Amino acid sequence: MITSVVPGDPPRPAQVPGPSAAAPAERELPAEQPASGAPDALWWRDAVIYQVYVRSFQDSNGDGIGDLPGVRARLPYLKRLGVDGVWLNPFYPSPQHDHGYDVADYKGVDPMFGTLEDFDLLVEDCRKLGLRLVLDTVPNHCSTEHPWFQDALLAAPGSTERARFHFADGRGTDGELPPNNWRAMFGGPAWSRITEPDGTAGQWYLHMFTPEQPDLNWRNPEVPAEFEKVLRFWLDRGVDGFRIDVAAGLFKHPELPDSPDPEADERTRDSVNPLAWNQPEVHDIWRAWRAICEEYTQLDGRQRLLVGEASVPTPAEQAKYVRADELHQAFFFHLLHAPWDSEHFHQVIDAAVRDITATGSTVTWVLNNHDQVRTTTRFGSPERARAAALLMLALPGAAYLYQGEELGLPEVDDLPDDVITDPIFFRTGSRKGIRDGCRVPLPWSGTEAPFGFSPDDSAPSWLPQPPSFADHTAERALTDHTSPYHLYREALHLRRLLPQLGEGTLRWLETPPNVLAFTRGDGLLVATNFGTTPAPAPVTGTPLLSSAPCPPGTLPPATTAWWIQPRM
Ligand code: NOJ
Ligand code: CA
Repeated sequence: MITSVVPGDPPRPAQVPGPSAAAPAERELPAEQPASGAPDALWWRDAVIYQVYVRSFQDSNGDGIGDLPGVRARLPYLKRLGVDGVWLNPFYPSPQHDHGYDVADYKGVDPMFGTLEDFDLLVEDCRKLGLRLVLDTVPNHCSTEHPWFQDALLAAPGSTERARFHFADGRGTDGELPPNNWRAMFGGPAWSRITEPDGTAGQWYLHMFTPEQPDLNWRNPEVPAEFEKVLRFWLDRGVDGFRIDVAAGLFKHPELPDSPDPEADERTRDSVNPLAWNQPEVHDIWRAWRAICEEYTQLDGRQRLLVGEASVPTPAEQAKYVRADELHQAFFFHLLHAPWDSEHFHQVIDAAVRDITATGSTVTWVLNNHDQVRTTTRFGSPERARAAALLMLALPGAAYLYQGEELGLPEVDDLPDDVITDPIFFRTGSRKGIRDGCRVPLPWSGTEAPFGFSPDDSAPSWLPQPPSFADHTAERALTDHTSPYHLYREALHLRRLLPQLGEGTLRWLETPPNVLAFTRGDGLLVATNFGTTPAPAPVTGTPLLSSAPCPPGTLPPATTAWWIQPRM
């Protein structure tokens, strides 16, 4: 059931599907007190942000592709879930070779997703509902259809147009070999050769992802200058911040030398080539961007957030990205790769809390996103996914949720080859690591595809939803008090009510094997059983919230529970 009960809901755009069931009896949550964690000005420090993968969230016009009016229509659902804000994956004009991470125009909306006016209305509705709005920005590379790249193709070697990218002559007798041995993250060489305007085989350009995503040359002052304008364009329209794609990218070693281990990025699918990533100059850019955010805060007191996707080798390196005058936060991705193992979770959480808290920033926890296998599948069961989520939501710092995790969606891992769109599949010829399975459009209502994703179920969704999504519709989740939706909602509600769940302290407790337990501040105790047999609960008494029913004194397998202790 999607109809909102939130005061001040925006009117629903007429074309968006409405609810198809009567309002469910929803468990009453106690009234919220003003959050006693971070003051509003520092909202981002312990915020829970919901990631909206726009093309898979809600279609409003019947083309089977999600869009901005669709997002707008579902804001009340997000408000009711209790998140603090929304991060939108790229919706800019793009040929969609990497689903919007190939931007052709940084200051527009792709007609597939709506218009700038739709965007402005979305900002307005977010403001009315008290939801922060965070955009995705993609500064490392653009699209080959960006006018700059089109100009560069028409211009001569050595021209100012080519100097915005990394164009270089090839090696070999005829320039037939790439300028260096780097490999692209999504497979194949990191260089492609162009045909010059006179029809001859020409220079090469660098692309660390796909050939349709040429890397920009951040040593050329025109590039940072243009991005400052882009930031201001969206800040002037009222956004609360930016998620920064490939935040350890941008600069490359100035000489573009050969790498001693050219296959490393491709092998690890991570930014590990030390010549292509994490160059010291990138920090100057984050200082400049932070200064722009501070400038806007000076005007109205509202803090703007910069959260970076900064994949770097060590916590010490990550700490540099969140220095006081750089990014506010950087995603902490280690839980994305953690196996379902108490010792592993313990080490990862402990290191994050220690190393990142020491920087003055807060940890930005992530269990799911649009690039990773969903937790229900990754951890091996819906129970484990629920337990992991309740564990994460008890940790100090901010958390990012990925659309559909609150519905317990599994990874769709049997999509036929002919519907796969991920460039990784085409570049590597393998399904290993492909990301379509976590991007299948959300099921909202009904018993058959497309499950309310399009108005009147008028079109097939751009990726087919499996029949099993019938068990995961939002409509069903809202009426079922045992659904993951209600677990998330209650956890988010408690985060607002209980000051202990703010950014404060975490103290580990002694536990039996396969169990993790810690206290948060005064009186809140959290425990997770990673094992396959019941464990004794660390305290007696009924949990305040648990990911599965807990018989007295027992913590069942694959369960997290939160208790309030009188005084510990
Ligand atoms: C990280 C994004 O999350 C991913 O989806 C994208 O393909 C790459 N960056 C390249 O922009
Ligand atoms: Ca649409």
